[in-house]
Amino acid sequence: MKPSIRDSGRGPGRVRTRFIMYSRCPYDPGTVRMTQIPAASSSGDVPGMGRRQFMNLLTFGSVTGVALGALYPVVNYFIPPRPAGGGGGTTAKDASGNGVTLSGWLADHKEGDRSLVQGLKGDPTYLVVEGPEAIGNYGINAICTHLGCVVPWNSGANKFMCPCHGSQYDATGKVVRGPAPLSLALAHVSVENDNVFLSQWTETDFRTGDKPWWV
Ligand code: FES
Repeated sequence: MKPSIRDSGRGPGRVRTRFIMYSRCPYDPGTVRMTQIPAASSSGDVPGMGRRQFMNLLTFGSVTGVALGALYPVVNYFIPPRPAGGGGGTTAKDASGNGVTLSGWLADHKEGDRSLVQGLKGDPTYLVVEGPEAIGNYGINAICTHLGCVVPWNSGANKFMCPCHGSQYDATGKVVRGPAPLSLALAHVSVENDNVFLSQWTETDFRTGDKPWWV
């Protein structure tokens, strides 16, 4: 007789067992020997408690992660953004990404200077040095209103001159030559504890007397 495996139970509560039978006992050839091994310990059909708990935890973790990921944008939508600084503005940053301070800026830039900082929404914005101890209360967005080139300041000509198609703006950013259709956008500049901030300019454009086109 060859070794065989069979199922000893039926129904949901059954216990599967494995029987291995030999035709003869090696010490007593006249008898048949049988060895029984529980199926769960050998086949792995019924997971142990540790494995089941681990799988439950894994499922719970996955479902929770997906739910939180889906909820984040919804929750974020209802939380108003925190202002970055003075008057709800954004910190002006230099070319290295460091916050600009009034004292540091005036130490490095002379009266009449127009140099770029990183401003609202990351737009390049000129700070205007109006004297040895003051910067202007407005910044000038350097994005050309024609097709969006960054307009450099030409101190010799006392103008902003766009290299792309020749538009020109005066020292305040007012357009004086096309094809640019509009003046450069403005931003408010404020100083708090020596830190320089930029914020939205929503009032009348002092250069033209018109409503700001960029709002
Ligand atoms: S992008 Fe400045 S003139 Fe065209």
